[in-house]
Amino acid sequence: MSESTPANWRRTDEFLSELLVGHDAALDAALAAQEDAGMPAIEVAPVSGKLLSLLARISGARRVLEIGTLGGYSTIWLARAVGDDGQVVSIEAEPANAAVARASIDAAGVGDRVAVRIGRAAEVLPTLDGSEPFDLVFIDADKQSNTIYLDWAARLGRPGTVVILDNIGRDGEIVNDASADPMVIGTRDALRMLAEDPRFDATALQTVGIKGWDGFALALVI
Ligand code: DHB
Ligand code: MG
Repeated sequence: MSESTPANWRRTDEFLSELLVGHDAALDAALAAQEDAGMPAIEVAPVSGKLLSLLARISGARRVLEIGTLGGYSTIWLARAVGDDGQVVSIEAEPANAAVARASIDAAGVGDRVAVRIGRAAEVLPTLDGSEPFDLVFIDADKQSNTIYLDWAARLGRPGTVVILDNIGRDGEIVNDASADPMVIGTRDALRMLAEDPRFDATALQTVGIKGWDGFALALVI
Protein backbone atom coordinates (compact mmCIF):
# COMPACT_ATOMS: atom_id res chain seq x y z
CA MET A 1 0.00 0.00 0.00
CA SER A 2 1.44 3.35 -1.00
CA GLU A 3 1.89 6.05 1.57
CA SER A 4 0.05 9.35 1.54
CA THR A 5 2.99 11.58 0.78
CA PRO A 6 3.36 14.69 -1.38
CA ALA A 7 5.43 12.66 -3.87
CA ASN A 8 2.63 10.11 -4.20
CA TRP A 9 -0.06 12.79 -4.48
CA ARG A 10 1.95 14.31 -7.31
CA ARG A 11 2.43 10.98 -9.10
CA THR A 12 -1.27 10.20 -8.77
CA ASP A 13 -2.25 13.61 -10.08
CA GLU A 14 0.11 13.16 -13.03
CA PHE A 15 -1.50 9.79 -13.75
CA LEU A 16 -5.00 11.31 -13.60
CA SER A 17 -3.92 14.23 -15.78
CA GLU A 18 -2.43 11.96 -18.42
CA LEU A 19 -5.46 9.68 -18.38
CA LEU A 20 -8.33 12.15 -18.18
CA VAL A 21 -6.97 15.45 -19.46
CA GLY A 22 -4.17 14.53 -21.83
CA HIS A 23 -2.11 17.03 -23.76
CA ASP A 24 -3.10 19.98 -25.72
CA ALA A 25 -0.80 22.09 -27.91
CA ALA A 26 -2.46 25.41 -27.09
CA LEU A 27 -2.49 24.87 -23.33
CA ASP A 28 1.09 23.57 -23.34
CA ALA A 29 2.15 26.63 -25.38
CA ALA A 30 0.38 28.94 -22.93
CA LEU A 31 2.32 27.42 -20.02
CA ALA A 32 5.60 27.65 -21.95
CA ALA A 33 4.94 31.32 -22.76
CA GLN A 34 4.10 31.99 -19.11
CA GLU A 35 7.35 30.38 -17.99
CA ASP A 36 9.40 32.20 -20.67
CA ALA A 37 7.95 35.47 -19.41
CA GLY A 38 9.15 34.67 -15.90
CA MET A 39 5.67 34.41 -14.44
CA PRO A 40 5.16 32.05 -11.47
CA ALA A 41 3.79 28.56 -12.18
CA ILE A 42 0.69 29.13 -10.06
CA GLU A 43 -1.92 28.36 -12.71
CA VAL A 44 -4.50 25.71 -11.88
CA ALA A 45 -3.46 22.08 -12.32
CA PRO A 46 -4.65 20.36 -15.52
CA VAL A 47 -7.27 18.33 -13.62
CA SER A 48 -8.58 21.59 -12.13
CA GLY A 49 -8.60 23.33 -15.50
CA LYS A 50 -10.77 20.51 -16.75
CA LEU A 51 -12.95 20.80 -13.65
CA LEU A 52 -13.52 24.49 -14.44
CA SER A 53 -14.45 23.53 -17.97
CA LEU A 54 -16.88 20.85 -16.76
CA LEU A 55 -18.48 23.18 -14.19
CA ALA A 56 -19.00 25.78 -16.92
CA ARG A 57 -20.52 23.20 -19.24
CA ILE A 58 -22.64 21.49 -16.56
CA SER A 59 -24.09 24.87 -15.58
CA GLY A 60 -24.56 25.92 -19.21
CA ALA A 61 -22.49 29.04 -18.61
CA ARG A 62 -22.34 31.49 -21.51
CA ARG A 63 -20.85 34.49 -19.70
CA VAL A 64 -17.86 33.84 -17.47
CA LEU A 65 -15.91 36.26 -15.30
CA GLU A 66 -12.36 35.39 -14.28
CA ILE A 67 -10.50 37.45 -11.69
CA GLY A 68 -6.76 36.84 -12.18
CA THR A 69 -5.73 35.96 -15.74
CA LEU A 70 -2.03 35.21 -15.10
CA GLY A 71 -0.84 33.61 -18.38
CA GLY A 72 -4.30 32.68 -19.64
CA TYR A 73 -4.20 28.94 -18.91
CA SER A 74 -7.51 28.76 -17.02
CA THR A 75 -8.89 31.45 -19.34
CA ILE A 76 -8.43 29.14 -22.33
CA TRP A 77 -10.16 26.28 -20.49
CA LEU A 78 -13.10 28.56 -19.69
CA ALA A 79 -13.23 30.13 -23.16
CA ARG A 80 -13.47 26.73 -24.78
CA ALA A 81 -16.21 25.74 -22.35
CA VAL A 82 -18.52 28.68 -23.11
CA GLY A 83 -18.66 27.79 -26.79
CA ASP A 84 -18.75 29.93 -29.93
CA ASP A 85 -21.38 32.33 -28.69
CA GLY A 86 -19.99 32.62 -25.16
CA GLN A 87 -17.89 35.32 -23.57
CA VAL A 88 -15.15 35.40 -20.96
CA VAL A 89 -14.10 38.60 -19.25
CA SER A 90 -10.78 38.09 -17.47
CA ILE A 91 -9.21 40.72 -15.25
CA GLU A 92 -5.44 40.99 -14.81
CA ALA A 93 -3.64 43.60 -12.72
CA GLU A 94 -0.25 43.20 -14.36
CA PRO A 95 -0.11 44.55 -17.96
CA ALA A 96 2.86 42.33 -18.89
CA ASN A 97 0.94 39.22 -17.79
CA ALA A 98 -2.10 40.37 -19.73
CA ALA A 99 -0.02 40.73 -22.92
CA VAL A 100 1.33 37.19 -22.59
CA ALA A 101 -2.16 35.87 -21.86
CA ARG A 102 -3.69 37.76 -24.77
CA ALA A 103 -1.21 36.20 -27.21
CA SER A 104 -1.77 32.70 -25.83
CA ILE A 105 -5.56 33.07 -25.86
CA ASP A 106 -5.45 34.30 -29.47
CA ALA A 107 -3.10 31.48 -30.47
CA ALA A 108 -5.57 29.01 -28.92
CA GLY A 109 -8.20 30.27 -31.36
CA VAL A 110 -10.59 31.64 -28.74
CA GLY A 111 -9.51 35.28 -28.80
CA ASP A 112 -12.82 36.48 -30.20
CA ARG A 113 -14.69 35.38 -27.08
CA VAL A 114 -12.25 36.68 -24.45
CA ALA A 115 -11.86 40.23 -23.19
CA VAL A 116 -8.79 40.71 -21.00
CA ARG A 117 -9.32 43.78 -18.84
CA ILE A 118 -6.14 45.28 -17.40
CA GLY A 119 -6.24 46.85 -13.95
CA ARG A 120 -6.79 46.16 -10.28
CA ALA A 121 -9.88 43.98 -10.15
CA ALA A 122 -11.37 46.10 -7.36
CA GLU A 123 -11.35 48.99 -9.83
CA VAL A 124 -12.35 47.08 -12.96
CA LEU A 125 -15.26 45.16 -11.38
CA PRO A 126 -17.50 48.21 -10.80
CA THR A 127 -17.16 49.07 -14.52
CA LEU A 128 -18.80 45.71 -15.37
CA ASP A 129 -21.93 46.62 -13.42
CA GLY A 130 -24.94 46.99 -15.68
CA SER A 131 -23.78 44.35 -18.15
CA GLU A 132 -25.64 41.06 -18.44
CA PRO A 133 -25.14 38.89 -15.37
CA PHE A 134 -22.27 36.42 -15.34
CA ASP A 135 -23.17 32.73 -15.16
CA LEU A 136 -19.89 31.61 -13.60
CA VAL A 137 -17.17 33.50 -11.73
CA PHE A 138 -13.68 32.11 -11.12
CA ILE A 139 -11.71 33.99 -8.46
CA ASP A 140 -7.97 33.34 -8.55
CA ALA A 141 -6.19 36.59 -7.75
CA ASP A 142 -4.69 38.35 -4.72
CA LYS A 143 -6.15 36.55 -1.74
CA GLN A 144 -6.22 39.71 0.40
CA SER A 145 -9.08 41.01 -1.76
CA ASN A 146 -11.12 37.80 -1.84
CA THR A 147 -14.09 39.23 0.06
CA ILE A 148 -14.28 42.19 -2.33
CA TYR A 149 -14.27 39.75 -5.23
CA LEU A 150 -16.96 37.56 -3.67
CA ASP A 151 -19.12 40.61 -3.12
CA TRP A 152 -18.78 41.54 -6.80
CA ALA A 153 -19.39 37.94 -7.87
CA ALA A 154 -22.77 38.10 -6.13
CA ARG A 155 -23.56 41.56 -7.50
CA LEU A 156 -22.55 40.72 -11.07
CA GLY A 157 -24.16 37.29 -10.94
CA ARG A 158 -27.76 36.15 -10.56
CA PRO A 159 -29.46 33.39 -8.61
CA GLY A 160 -27.82 30.25 -9.97
CA THR A 161 -24.44 31.78 -10.76
CA VAL A 162 -21.59 29.40 -9.97
CA VAL A 163 -18.65 30.85 -8.02
CA ILE A 164 -15.31 29.08 -7.68
CA LEU A 165 -12.67 30.46 -5.33
CA ASP A 166 -9.15 29.07 -5.75
CA ASN A 167 -6.55 28.35 -3.08
CA ILE A 168 -8.58 27.88 0.06
CA GLY A 169 -6.21 25.42 1.70
CA ARG A 170 -2.82 27.05 1.59
CA ASP A 171 -0.98 24.00 2.96
CA GLY A 172 -3.37 23.83 5.90
CA GLU A 173 -2.53 27.34 7.05
CA ILE A 174 -6.20 28.32 7.01
CA VAL A 175 -6.68 26.57 10.37
CA ASN A 176 -3.89 28.63 11.89
CA ASP A 177 -5.74 31.36 13.81
CA ALA A 178 -2.42 33.02 14.60
CA SER A 179 -1.28 33.36 11.00
CA ALA A 180 -0.25 36.90 10.12
CA ASP A 181 0.02 36.06 6.40
CA PRO A 182 -2.36 38.45 4.62
CA MET A 183 -3.10 35.76 2.02
CA VAL A 184 -4.18 33.35 4.74
CA ILE A 185 -6.24 36.01 6.49
CA GLY A 186 -7.90 36.96 3.17
CA THR A 187 -8.72 33.33 2.49
CA ARG A 188 -10.17 32.74 5.96
CA ASP A 189 -12.26 35.91 5.64
CA ALA A 190 -13.56 34.69 2.28
CA LEU A 191 -14.54 31.30 3.67
CA ARG A 192 -16.32 32.98 6.59
CA MET A 193 -18.15 35.20 4.12
CA LEU A 194 -19.23 32.18 2.08
CA ALA A 195 -20.57 30.62 5.27
CA GLU A 196 -22.40 33.68 6.60
CA ASP A 197 -23.42 35.85 3.65
CA PRO A 198 -27.00 34.90 2.72
CA ARG A 199 -26.23 35.45 -0.95
CA PHE A 200 -24.17 32.24 -1.08
CA ASP A 201 -24.55 28.53 -0.47
CA ALA A 202 -21.06 27.03 -0.47
CA THR A 203 -18.76 24.17 0.24
CA ALA A 204 -15.02 23.68 -0.08
CA LEU A 205 -12.81 20.81 -1.08
CA GLN A 206 -9.18 20.22 -0.25
CA THR A 207 -6.97 19.08 -3.08
CA VAL A 208 -3.60 17.39 -3.17
CA GLY A 209 -1.59 16.86 -6.32
CA ILE A 210 0.92 18.55 -8.56
CA LYS A 211 0.09 21.88 -6.94
CA GLY A 212 0.69 20.53 -3.46
CA TRP A 213 -1.92 20.74 -0.70
CA ASP A 214 -4.57 23.34 -1.37
CA GLY A 215 -8.23 23.45 -2.36
CA PHE A 216 -11.10 25.46 -3.75
CA ALA A 217 -14.50 26.64 -2.64
CA LEU A 218 -17.57 26.12 -4.78
CA ALA A 219 -20.60 28.34 -4.24
CA LEU A 220 -23.98 29.00 -5.73
CA VAL A 221 -25.43 32.49 -5.72
CA ILE A 222 -28.92 32.18 -4.22
C1 DHB B 1 -0.63 31.50 -5.20
C2 DHB B 1 -1.70 31.99 -5.91
C3 DHB B 1 -2.51 31.13 -6.60
O1 DHB B 1 -3.60 31.56 -7.28
C4 DHB B 1 -2.25 29.75 -6.59
O2 DHB B 1 -3.09 28.95 -7.29
C5 DHB B 1 -1.20 29.27 -5.88
C6 DHB B 1 -0.38 30.14 -5.17
C7 DHB B 1 0.22 32.44 -4.46
O3 DHB B 1 0.12 33.64 -4.72
O4 DHB B 1 1.01 31.98 -3.65
MG1 MG C 1 -4.87 29.98 -7.77
